[in-house]
Amino acid sequence: MTQPWTPSQWRSLPAKHIPEDYPDADKLAEVEKTLSGYPPLVFAGEARKLKAHLAKVSRGESFLLQGGDCAESFAEFHPDNLRDMFRVLMQMAVVMTYGAGKPVVKVGRIAGQFGKPRSSPVEVRDGVTLPSYRGDNINGMAFDEKSRTPNPKRLLKAYGQSASTLNLLRAFSTGGYADLRNIHNWTLGFVSGSEQTAKYKEICDKITDAMEFMQACGVTPETTPQMAQTELYTSHEALLLGYEQAMTRIDSTTGRWYDTSAHLLWIGDRTRQLDGAHVNFMSGIENPIAMKCGPTLEPDDLIRLTDKLNPKNEPGRLTLIARFGSDKAAQHLPRLAQAIQREGKAVVWSCDPMHGNTLKTNSGYKTRPFDRILSEVQTFMDVLHSENCWPGGVHFEMTGQNVTECLGGAKAVTEEDLSSRYHTHCDPRLNADQALELAFLIAEELKSYRLEDAARLAG
Ligand code: PEP
Ligand code: CO
Repeated sequence: MTQPWTPSQWRSLPAKHIPEDYPDADKLAEVEKTLSGYPPLVFAGEARKLKAHLAKVSRGESFLLQGGDCAESFAEFHPDNLRDMFRVLMQMAVVMTYGAGKPVVKVGRIAGQFGKPRSSPVEVRDGVTLPSYRGDNINGMAFDEKSRTPNPKRLLKAYGQSASTLNLLRAFSTGGYADLRNIHNWTLGFVSGSEQTAKYKEICDKITDAMEFMQACGVTPETTPQMAQTELYTSHEALLLGYEQAMTRIDSTTGRWYDTSAHLLWIGDRTRQLDGAHVNFMSGIENPIAMKCGPTLEPDDLIRLTDKLNPKNEPGRLTLIARFGSDKAAQHLPRLAQAIQREGKAVVWSCDPMHGNTLKTNSGYKTRPFDRILSEVQTFMDVLHSENCWPGGVHFEMTGQNVTECLGGAKAVTEEDLSSRYHTHCDPRLNADQALELAFLIAEELKSYRLEDAARLAG
């Protein structure tokens, strides 16, 4: 007989990428106990609302935009950085909504995206071997023994940073900053003069015209609050299950378990073992969840995982994030999409064009060529469209800062430029200009589907 699920059941199962080298296990247990008494960061009702939005995405009625830092850090925690991230997400969403003619569901990789799976557990520099950096909620970036030793107190700091980040995001979303009458002011200083800014301004002018017309007809932000407010949901990889367990509570209105650390949690490509700890944990929480799908995932496994993670085939529950690499997507995605179609699974298909397109330059920088990122998104959309599936969303690592971490883009970042503003704590992110450029590409594609549909209906 299988035991009923509990939030701690994962502890008896094999777990990858969870550190075991905390010097003081009692201290870790004490911190987890403290966290389990702290207020939830999100409410179950909000997670249900996001699930309902994602159900619409799964039916092709809207589009998912998920993005943010690869890893949040204590050092880059600053209100200006949060504002810039919020702003670039809003700009992308405006561009996509305009192109798709459909609502865009906005989800940040934010307010909890700290823990990272690493390809090697150790890092060697000049003959010295130390544990790899695993995210600010586990250890520190500095290459010395003290900093690289996992410290449970970091979990409390990560919780605190997540709470105040979320507080500011909620204020931006509903306090007037996200008011559509403000869209002209969202233009970022440093992109001015670029092709993206000119295109963005054009859309803003059209939206402003449309709003003036609607206002004349009596539709105003006062009568229609969606014009003055937005909804931004939070998400992160559910990697460090001790933290996730501590944040998992029974929702008093439904009696079901919700992980209150974020609205949406995802399973990484490296921790999606069918009988492993992460899949077990995620199978029991009621939040909307996502799973990364990389090149080693076979269609049969995908179906088994889908059955386990979404046994009732509830629309909006499961998002599949394809991340194959621009050269592999055309080979892997069709088989997976066909299996999902054949089995009648309700899923959201999203594309992460970042993690399969990472390379190291001769000078040792981890980077991602922008043209490969674009090309993977394009292949993703083409493949799903031709399989009669809705290419429902995208998942990016990006920042509102003018960094030089990914190569290329309209204002071409070259290999020589990488060193000038390379700030990431883990993987290379799109800068605001590159992110907006990508949003325009997606918007064009979505617009062409809209026109195709209209022609079919007319025809
Ligand atoms: C990530 O999203 O930061 C990540 C590690 O991705 P993946 O699990 O797809 O490698
Ligand atoms: Co990453």
